[in-house]
Amino acid sequence: MKDRRENWSSNFGFILAATGSAIGLGNLWKFPFITWKNDGGAFVLIYLICIIAVGLPIMMAELLVGRKTQKSAVGALREAIGPAWGWVGTWGVMAGFVILSYYAVVAGWSLFYLFQTLNWSFFGFPTQANMGGLFAGLAANGLLQTTLSGTFMLLTVAVVFFGVHGGIERTARLCLPALFVIMLLLLFSALSMEGSGEALNFIFRPNFSELDTAAILEALGHAFFTLSLGMGTMIVYGSYVARERSLVNAAGSIVILDTVIALIATIIMFSVIFTVPGMPEQVDGSSVGMLFISLPQLFYEVVPFGVVLAPAFYLLVALAALTSTISLLEVVVSYFIDQRKMERSRATLLSGACIYIFTFLSGLSFGAFPWLSNFELFDGKAGFFATMDHFASNWALPLGGLLITLGVGWFMPSSDTEAELVGSGSPGWFSHKAWLFAVRFIAPAAVAAILIAVIFFGKDFS
Ligand code: PFF
Repeated sequence: MKDRRENWSSNFGFILAATGSAIGLGNLWKFPFITWKNDGGAFVLIYLICIIAVGLPIMMAELLVGRKTQKSAVGALREAIGPAWGWVGTWGVMAGFVILSYYAVVAGWSLFYLFQTLNWSFFGFPTQANMGGLFAGLAANGLLQTTLSGTFMLLTVAVVFFGVHGGIERTARLCLPALFVIMLLLLFSALSMEGSGEALNFIFRPNFSELDTAAILEALGHAFFTLSLGMGTMIVYGSYVARERSLVNAAGSIVILDTVIALIATIIMFSVIFTVPGMPEQVDGSSVGMLFISLPQLFYEVVPFGVVLAPAFYLLVALAALTSTISLLEVVVSYFIDQRKMERSRATLLSGACIYIFTFLSGLSFGAFPWLSNFELFDGKAGFFATMDHFASNWALPLGGLLITLGVGWFMPSSDTEAELVGSGSPGWFSHKAWLFAVRFIAPAAVAAILIAVIFFGKDFS
């Protein structure tokens, strides 16, 4: 065991790593799809309100618990709030385990499309392409699924193995700038397309007659997922932050960057979709359809510079997913290091191997293995993958988030939270009282609403 805890080498490195955790498949895969499903405008506005009123205060709460105690989720909650709260941390570690197990499957698909688009860009896009068939073939091919997700897990393990500084921070420093550059190139290309005006209208012009309560709750549930909240990721990342840094500024930067990227991704995808007549009707089906069935072909048919931008886009998806999977694995690994006194190398290999068993099952649940494809624990959620996703999005994150915000708001001395948030480097506009009000009342009420919707009204946010 080391006696000194590893820290981020700089504030910038920390912000990049935490932003990398936040930006992921949630921004590129889930957000555009739920915005589409909920008719844009009003939904986007509600989502922004949820991010500011609920996401931002909870982000600060998680970061401060980690920084104050310099421990990972279980030990941090136990020390900052009280012994019983260690269980909330354990729940978070389990959530990290579950989310990573199925997230790696979709991340694996991004690798498949990266190779596929490279191939098309170099050797030509087939004239009679059947993109639906291509995806269906991938989904049902057990060997391909488990190899792709296994490769992604290996990449994740390799990064976490080298620790906070040499692994996680270094990867974020490489990936995030690349991600921003690719995103901007795609944005310029998308804005030059005919459909971009209609896309911007769809995203930014609110039409409240389209909005129902379910959409509001969906926006809130997604705010948790996209900001990596509710399972202790930000507690762990906060535990590597040096004392003199302002957590308020850090939380603000992470939240802004995550939101901007989600919106840009949505503008890009919708500009492409609205440019092709008849495409909006076709996309309605599923989130998988938008990212992995409609888009690949459109890159080669309508997007300016699509030959270059298609592989760049799937590289972007893979990089975004990687900086998220490493944070998920770090939650589990830091538990073994801090609570079980294990060496990082052993903890990483062991956690990676155990999680991969579940990844393997998820990967085979798209038709390759009928028993896993029909596995049903929650009504109407057939398949091992869907079951894991449903459990994480509907139960694990909201419940974890509710308990963390209640614990920090009501059971942690407010002098402690004030000492972490106010002081050197914190911006003048920050009000500890307003923050406390948000974590005590607004956030718990909002999160409780999600859980009530799930328990009593059978609502599904996965
Ligand atoms: N925030 C990630 C995304 O939007 O894809 C997903 C995620 C990562 C959730 C890490 C939770 C977490 F701890």
